Amino acid sequence: MNQELQQRRLQSLFRVAKVTKRTSPTLIEVDGRPLINFGTNDYLGISWTSAGDSISANLPTTGSGAAPLLSGYSDHHAALESALARFEGSEAAIVFSTGYAANVGTISAIAQEGDLLLSDSLNHASLIDGCRLSKATSVVYPHSDMQAVHQILSQQRSLFKRCYLATDTLFSMNGDLAKLPEIVVLAETFDMNVIVDEAHATGIYGKNGRGWVEECELEKQIAVRIGTLSKAIGSVGGFVHGSQVLVDYLRNFARTYVYSTSMPEWVAIATMSNLARLSSMHRERIDLRSKSRDLRNRLQLAGYQVPSGDSPIIPITMESPEIAVDHSYRLGELGFYVPAIRPPTVPADQSMLRVSLSIDHTEEQIQSLTHSIRKSKSRWP
Ligand SMILES: Cc1ncc(COP(=O)(O)O)c(C=O)c1O
Repeated sequence: MNQELQQRRLQSLFRVAKVTKRTSPTLIEVDGRPLINFGTNDYLGISWTSAGDSISANLPTTGSGAAPLLSGYSDHHAALESALARFEGSEAAIVFSTGYAANVGTISAIAQEGDLLLSDSLNHASLIDGCRLSKATSVVYPHSDMQAVHQILSQQRSLFKRCYLATDTLFSMNGDLAKLPEIVVLAETFDMNVIVDEAHATGIYGKNGRGWVEECELEKQIAVRIGTLSKAIGSVGGFVHGSQVLVDYLRNFARTYVYSTSMPEWVAIATMSNLARLSSMHRERIDLRSKSRDLRNRLQLAGYQVPSGDSPIIPITMESPEIAVDHSYRLGELGFYVPAIRPPTVPADQSMLRVSLSIDHTEEQIQSLTHSIRKSKSRWP
């Protein structure tokens, strides 16, 4: 262990959990130092509610006491699942204790021996682990490369019983969006099922905030949709929604559901009130996306390698992990929290600063971030 940790230190890849305290939707203290926070997934500021305290004070328990199929499934858990199904316009939904567990449990339960499972190379670790745990034959395709997917399917589809493609919709580090319309065409051509993880897209895309699938109007074509409660929904937990058969199947076969304690009841209650707010935040969704376009433009004009787009996840490419860490540190000195993202979270040559925008960031905060990014760059050795 020591050797491997030392190796990480030498490569600027060592991680520490910094003690942080969020003091407002856009401010954070990191190791006691107050900074403007550009490192949260609470894109709509929904987690800022005092509901948690008052709800937990009125409940006799802190934990749910058991896995859902034993005694850990209360009327609040059932109500949250119904609320999620309504929010998503789906027949049914099932709640897991985390988004991670939802991905791992769902993919490994659905894709079985004799099946082919395609996975985008930039998928989140939880989809990757779901593929690893599945007994299907997994093939990783280059990020969003539809020609590669076509080629794999042409060559291999006939060798397998069923076929699945699993993808993030809004990629968590690059901040770009899956080519769902093209994926769906391939799915129809090759008799393939699509499994999507809307973790970062829920609340941000779609008329009702259901995510990128809604924005692309592909709700009928994509049968397995996974989400997390921990990003724009501002809580904790994961969910899957779709047909009643899908939900019944996962309740029986998804091991991360069956064999894991359910979320505390007060979390389920607080999450329902967050969800109720999310549907009506259309104006905020539009504003957030326009803020993102503006900041991306500014950074591009300042000479940074930043992709165009409108998602609140903005990657600024850095030449190496060392430079990413150094830049993040210098931004900290100037009053900003912008995390450095390094391997193994991203491929070896793709270190970055990851700016996460929130609807609550003011124009002044965004302007001074742009200014400070330029300033900290000019101080590189
Ligand atoms: C794309 C994606 N899926 C799933 C997860 C896991 O969700 P959770 O944090 O709720 O476990 C994350 C978390 O970072 C993510 O970025």
